[in-house]
Amino acid sequence: MSTVLKINNVTKTYNKKLKALDKINLQIKKGEIFALLGPNGAGKSTLINSICGIVNFDSGSIKINDLDIIQNYRETRKVVGIVPQELYLEAFETIWNNVNYSRGLFGKPPNYQYVESVLKELSLWDKKDSKLKELSGGMKRRVLIAKALSHEPKILFLDEPTASVDVELRKDMWNVVKKLNHKGVTIILTTHYIEEAEELSDRVAIINDGKIILVDEKQKLMKKLGQKTIKIELENSIENITTKLSKYKFDIDESKKILTHSFNLSKENTDITEMLNDLKNEGLKLKDINTDQSSLEEIFIKLIKENNNELVRN
Ligand SMILES: Nc1ncnc2c1ncn2[C@@H]1O[C@H](COP(=O)(O)OP(=O)(O)OP(=O)(O)O)[C@@H](O)[C@H]1O
Ligand SMILES: [Mg+2]
Repeated sequence: MSTVLKINNVTKTYNKKLKALDKINLQIKKGEIFALLGPNGAGKSTLINSICGIVNFDSGSIKINDLDIIQNYRETRKVVGIVPQELYLEAFETIWNNVNYSRGLFGKPPNYQYVESVLKELSLWDKKDSKLKELSGGMKRRVLIAKALSHEPKILFLDEPTASVDVELRKDMWNVVKKLNHKGVTIILTTHYIEEAEELSDRVAIINDGKIILVDEKQKLMKKLGQKTIKIELENSIENITTKLSKYKFDIDESKKILTHSFNLSKENTDITEMLNDLKNEGLKLKDINTDQSSLEEIFIKLIKENNNELVRN
């Protein structure tokens, strides 16, 4: 897969003292959905805004399709669309005018058919003649997406696209993002809803205090750092674990009926069939069996904690 975005040693300091980005290196592949995660103030918006030319970074370089974004501002700016975190909209204009105007800003000739299709896709068509100030917060966010798509960008940045929208709209937006991605648009998003990253992304970066502390494929990350738990409920209580079963290191609950076996997905590979056979051979009858796997959320919290502890230690 080719690389569409190369970020090399980018640093940004606000007011000469606050280092919002500290030597960021990152490469984004064509056609992927990439999620940037991190706590408030980590530098996510600063990074996205630097790439889109909204924030001036201090040093390092950013290239889109191998073109430097400062030297080739006009060309590279045309390729990107951004849905900013803050809602800046022309409140007294209609949705239709807003979106068509945005397209014009990028030097694209009018294409009413395209704009119509975007508004329909985002379920905004019946609101096209409403003024922006008449829309709800979630609908305004959809208008921001329509504006970002107005000039048919190849790379779309979504800075917390589903902040403060309801669950249903969030799912609609996920579908819009997936569809765009299927059409070949590379997507970079930030989110505080980790289930959003889990649902959408191919790769994930975690940023903390202006530094990228981890970049990995989502699946690998979940496998590498995830725990899996198998919970077995027995028909009858047992007194103790027989020697044959000791290798599974079961935890027994107070009722002496529930056995829990946890293992790390990358390090161990428990053969579940063998385990169930061993239980049966020991004369134990199973009532129920459940499995549970750690979410990206749990992994994220663990990593940020570890990173902060490391900072304290150094
Ligand atoms: N225009 C600005 N002037 C001064 N400091 C700023 C400015 N914008 C951001 N900062 C600071 O830079 C740091 C990074 O902010 P940024 O908005 O990039 O974080 P973020 O990861 O997007 O956070 P959030 O999850 O809250 O959106 C913060 O400490 C913030 O206070
Ligand atoms: Mg932000």
